[in-house]
Amino acid sequence: MKVLVTGGAGFIGANFVHTTVQTMPDAEVTVLDKLTYAGNKNSIAGLERVKLVQGDVADYDTVEPLVGEADVVVHFAAESHNDNSLKGPWPFIKSNIVGTFTLLEAVRKHGTRLHHISTDEVYGDLKIGEKRKFKPGDPYIPSSPYSASKASSDHLVRAWVRSFGIAATISNCSNNYGPYQHIEKFIPRTVTNLMDGIRPRIYGTGEQIRDWIHVLDHNTAVWDIINRGRIGETYLIGANGELSNLQVTKMILEEFGLDPNDFEHVNDRPGHDQRYAIDNTKLVEELGWHPHYTDFRDGLRQTIKWYRDNEAWWRAQKEEVEARYRANGQ
Ligand code: NAD
Ligand code: DAU
Repeated sequence: MKVLVTGGAGFIGANFVHTTVQTMPDAEVTVLDKLTYAGNKNSIAGLERVKLVQGDVADYDTVEPLVGEADVVVHFAAESHNDNSLKGPWPFIKSNIVGTFTLLEAVRKHGTRLHHISTDEVYGDLKIGEKRKFKPGDPYIPSSPYSASKASSDHLVRAWVRSFGIAATISNCSNNYGPYQHIEKFIPRTVTNLMDGIRPRIYGTGEQIRDWIHVLDHNTAVWDIINRGRIGETYLIGANGELSNLQVTKMILEEFGLDPNDFEHVNDRPGHDQRYAIDNTKLVEELGWHPHYTDFRDGLRQTIKWYRDNEAWWRAQKEEVEARYRANGQ
């Protein structure tokens, strides 16, 4: 099977490429990645049966022949950080909306199977304290330029399925954690800050809730959807991992053997989503998917170890990332 993975040098895409070549001896993987600040070719270096093409998913002349060679396209490529989208939305419009449109046109031409990776943030947020979770079919109410651009990309995929009959599925996943995540994101930022003797930074009150899932569990769900999902359907991926930012920060401090209250509150994110939570019933009942990483503390401990063992992977970016946050009061 020839698999085209867009954004395969980013966090989730790189983990997906690793799992694919490890578990599918017949798979040949082509990664199309622009290698933005968030892409790192070292994340997939040395893997057999993996070819990296550096290019933009919004460039049709690059995308079209790669889609023509593939049996399946898995579309991870995107600008992915909410804070960056609040500072400069244009790359999000270009990569996430125009990029997905461009890919869809190539998929339409070749009739290639597509799986589109999206986020639970398209549904806006839930209230802290309410029981409700996001369900397929909920209205789209995105809050940030990032989530609005992902919502737009989902709409495009659905329109291309309905109007042009392309063979696509969509998944919307909650917050991922694990190896190879960029250190601008909450868990790796906190871990690498502590390695540098910097106190964790909590936006606002820290009571906001995220529904954490290990990246490898996200990716087994993606393969289940590709293999057994119904064309045109949307599947929500989540592993019942709701925790507040305060709880996660305290756990990380404890894993470092530090006082769990030794953190700082900093400027809040404008428009900060309060709570995400996924109802994964459809994925579990229809496709029989189950998460493997059900103990968050254990997964967190392994993730902290990965950042300790792989300092060379992230060190070069640390100073610049923290300078950007400092300039923002965060
Ligand atoms: P990431 O920022 O770590 O990686 C994104 C990758 O896409 C990078 O390698 C980058 O170079 C590449 N890229 C960006 N623009 C590109 C373009 N125009 N052309 C080609 N490549 C481009 O992101 P991630 O966290 O791995 O997220 C991957 C996907 O999963 C995104 O679509 C994101 O919306 C979605 N998602 C992420 C999470 C999460 O918790 N991280 C949760 C749900 C969904
Ligand atoms: O829900 C899925 C989404 O999860 C994905 O679509 C996004 O691509 C991914 O980045 C993630 O979005 P979040 O905005 O939830 O992730 P982030 O790591 O930026 O922040 C997680 C929470 O932690 C959020 O409430 C903001 C807070 N935070 C973040 C940082 C970097 C802090 O309190 N302190 C920090 O230093």
